[in-house]
Amino acid sequence: MVGEEMNNAPQIRIAKNGPYLVSGGVPLSRQIIVCNDAGDSVAWQEGERYPVQERYALCRCGGSGNKPFCDGTHLKNYFDGTETASRVPYLERAEWVEGQDIRMSDAPGFCSHARFCVRGRGIWDLVERQRDPAMMEKAVEEVARCHSGRLVLWDKNTGEPMEPVLAPSIGVVEGPGEGVTGPVWVRGRIPVISSRGFTYEVRNRVTLCRCGRSGNKPFCDGSHREK
Ligand code: FES
Repeated sequence: MVGEEMNNAPQIRIAKNGPYLVSGGVPLSRQIIVCNDAGDSVAWQEGERYPVQERYALCRCGGSGNKPFCDGTHLKNYFDGTETASRVPYLERAEWVEGQDIRMSDAPGFCSHARFCVRGRGIWDLVERQRDPAMMEKAVEEVARCHSGRLVLWDKNTGEPMEPVLAPSIGVVEGPGEGVTGPVWVRGRIPVISSRGFTYEVRNRVTLCRCGRSGNKPFCDGSHREK
């Protein structure tokens, strides 16, 4: 029974030069970046929820005619899905920004360029100037919207991360304000298993490339924004 439960646990297995093979009945929905009049990313809006399936394959090459699902096009376009991302753990790669009651870790190598953090003078300035609960609340909100997991806030008193609670689920990101699609947003500590057999660091939120152009596969590096 324990073995069966483990086999049914959510996971994403990367097929060599092919799709993301998702198992464990992971909920899938479209997640749309909402922009303000100035073009800044300000919120998330949930779009279509796909019927729950025990297993499904998500396109990784960017060429499917049935996105977000794989339709086998990767075999025709000779997709090179070679994984080149660093396996150094997040905290060993992060730089730190210090505020009064909070601190923020920042590992730019995870960035998918959704631009929630650049409003006003930017999240870095907000953390450094944090003086009161209102500023703390704003910083927590901005960092929680960083779907790539590049930014993490920490409570200086407890030493604990101030992470949003995310159920295991996947969002296929779209940014209508930019006219481009975005990455696969993996939420709730779903293990991502390399085509070479190892498991990447399990995190609360990461973004995986689904345009096929990232130079940091399997993670998104914002290349979908380049026309
Ligand atoms: S990975 Fe199969 S069609 Fe894109």
